Amino acid sequence: MIQLREIEKYYGELKAVSNLNVTFPKGQISVIIGPSGCGKTTTLKMINLMVKPTHGKITIDSKDINKFHPEKLRRSIGYVIQNIGLFPHMSVSNNISVVPRLLKWSKHKIRERTNELLELVGLDSKIYLEKYPNQLSGGEAQRIGVARALAADPSILLMDEPFGAVDPLTREILQTEFLEIQNRVKKTIVFITHDLDEAIKLADKLIIMKDGKIIQDDSPDRILTEPKNQFIRDFIGTDRALKRLLRLTSRDHMHDAHHVDENERVDEIVSKFAEHPFLWVTDSRGVLKGWINLRKADHKKSVSDEMTLIQPNTLSISPMNTLRDALSKMIGEGIRSIPIVDREHRLQGEVTLEGIQEVVNRQNQI
Ligand SMILES: Nc1ncnc2c1ncn2[C@@H]1O[C@H](COP(=O)(O)OP(=O)(O)OP(=O)(O)O)[C@@H](O)[C@H]1O
Ligand SMILES: [Mg+2]
Repeated sequence: MIQLREIEKYYGELKAVSNLNVTFPKGQISVIIGPSGCGKTTTLKMINLMVKPTHGKITIDSKDINKFHPEKLRRSIGYVIQNIGLFPHMSVSNNISVVPRLLKWSKHKIRERTNELLELVGLDSKIYLEKYPNQLSGGEAQRIGVARALAADPSILLMDEPFGAVDPLTREILQTEFLEIQNRVKKTIVFITHDLDEAIKLADKLIIMKDGKIIQDDSPDRILTEPKNQFIRDFIGTDRALKRLLRLTSRDHMHDAHHVDENERVDEIVSKFAEHPFLWVTDSRGVLKGWINLRKADHKKSVSDEMTLIQPNTLSISPMNTLRDALSKMIGEGIRSIPIVDREHRLQGEVTLEGIQEVVNRQNQI
């Protein structure tokens, strides 16, 4: 747990932050959001002693951070800096292993850890290890930034707009992957963003700052349902019901999906599914292959002859995607249900428009 008590930071006359009292709980994602210049990066940099507070006290697990050696403290905290910050003249593998090399890990251990981290962030080590930052896309570079921050397995991660430099689609994928990783590694994370949707989606705890001060510090749901003042109301905008969908994962709201095996014959299943003529099609391993409308299918043929193919990762989402992602995809594709698949593309269930409608109705009643 990280605690900031009565923290102030002046740059000459300028008060960058003032009277900061905040706790970042262990194993959770705390997100700081607020207008440009409100003191977010300054707050983050004080935690790893890159910036020294003018006044106040910061503790990590109740220990005053001034008692730590600054270099040692920084190495024990993962830091993803604003605008990625990969070293341009170092290969991906050297970028990732900066801290382990400083810590003088063995070559073997470094190689193992680098491969493991690339896999964790979803990149093939055979392709990426020897690349240089200018040979990476924005999204790939950000993944490497996250891998580098995790390299020495720090328990604390400070992330300053880690997904700021990528397009909205890649950003959504990175966010979902990031949540999947956090589910496994359970780090204490302080995460800065400008993007309110991202903040609501990722935060266990959301801190809204303005002019160097904290205006509200609460769960995202509380901020959406009980905004403290007009500034917060303006900040979160009018579509609060839709924003709350960002807090709900498909995993928790999916239903069993009606599906058939591609090797079935249409005439043998048509009576069984008279009520549900629209079916997802899977292979013998449960991998999603396509969909079929039995009403329009030729009864003399097999399902695989009559189905419409779905390319992997097009018309499907992962269990960690939010209901907002599911809704956007359904609206974009003009469909009323969307299949949920695991990493191997095996069908897990489906989310329907009616299901989302029910969730929104229930929320409105509370
Ligand atoms: N080294 C510095 N010297 C003087 N002023 C600084 C310094 N670093 C930051 N500031 C000022 O402190 C204030 C807070 O800066 P900070 O970088 O924390 O903002 P931020 O919330 O991270 O903004 P952004 O969203 O644009 O990244 C700003 O007014 C900035 O100009
Ligand atoms: Mg900043």
